[in-house]
Formats: sequence, C-alpha cells, structure tokens
Amino acid sequence: MLVRMLYVSRATGPISRASVDSILAQSRAHNPDLGVTGILCWGGDIFMQVLEGGRGPVNQLYNQIVRDERHKDVVMLHYEEITERRFAGWTMGQVHLEKLNPSILLKYSEKPVLDPYAVSGKVSVALLEELIQTAAIIGRAESTRVALASNQ
Ligand SMILES: Cc1cc2nc3c(=O)[nH]c(=O)nc-3n(C[C@H](O)[C@H](O)[C@H](O)COP(=O)(O)O)c2cc1C
Repeated sequence: MLVRMLYVSRATGPISRASVDSILAQSRAHNPDLGVTGILCWGGDIFMQVLEGGRGPVNQLYNQIVRDERHKDVVMLHYEEITERRFAGWTMGQVHLEKLNPSILLKYSEKPVLDPYAVSGKVSVALLEELIQTAAIIGRAESTRVALASNQ
C-alpha cells in the first residue's frame, strides 16, 4: 500500500550546495532499497520534501529524517494513501526554489517566495505537481523507474 507524505522544516545552519548534496547522496544510498521516491526542495532556510512509497518504509524514513540535526521545526503538511506515485521518476529529485520562475510561486502564494508553513499542504502538493509539468525538477533517475517496475 502506497502513501505520499509532505513535510516542511527549517535548516539549523545555512543551506549550502554541499549540505544539499550530502542529503541527496544519503537519499540515493538508502531510498532505492526502501522503494521510496520523492523530491527535495530548498530555498532560504526552508526544506520541503515529498516522500512516496510503502507506508512502512515512508514512515520509517520520516521518523529518521525528523531526528536529523541539520533541520528543526519539522511539520507534516500532507499525508495520504495513494493508488499511484506522482514522483516515481526520482530517487530524490531536487528543486532550488530560488531558481524557479517567480510566476510559478505567485500562482500559489501571496508573494513570489514559498512559505510552506503559511499555505495549506494541498497548495504545496499542487506546486510540486506543476513543477513536474514544467520540468523544473532535476535528477530524474531512469534506473529507479526500472527497479521499481521490476519489483511489481
Ligand atoms: C531535509 C532532509 C531530508 C532528508 N532526506 C533523506 C532521504 O530521503 N533519504 C535518506 O536516506 N536520508 C535523508 N536524510 C538524511 C537522514 O536524516 C539521515 O541522516 C540519513 O539517512 C543517515 O544516513 P547514513 O546512515 O548513511 O549516515 C534527509 C535529511 C534532511 C535534513
């Protein structure tokens, strides 16, 4: 049984390319074995991550991520049972929110800066879905798709 989860958090230190790369490397090391796919967004001091996969693995991973000292104020924005993945193509895709076209952010929020703490979880999910359409997500992993398909 598949679930989709979205949370937001605040970095405890400045978010650098190196700190994002280290999180992405850990995601690539663990998520394929867990059958978890998703997207990591960051901008300013905010992380926002969507995780999709089996209920057990997604909850297990979330509990591990919440304890990570690189961030705080972790708030779950959205959790639902799903029949199919929307972010199946990414072991952990990445989106630098500050590099997005501001018009995409303006469509979903009052100012061209995303504050997931201030908007509903559904709005943040809608933004992520739009990012798929606009090819704003980096790091599509064909190998993950093949691995997931062969597990079915
Ligand atoms: C914002 C954020 C997102 C993370 N996402 C993942 C993830 O998707 N998969 C993962 O394995 N670790 C993720 N981590 C890292 C975990 O919290 C944890 O440090 C890591 O899984 C431990 O890996 P290790 O045992 O190889 O050191 C994330 C950490 C942060 C701060």
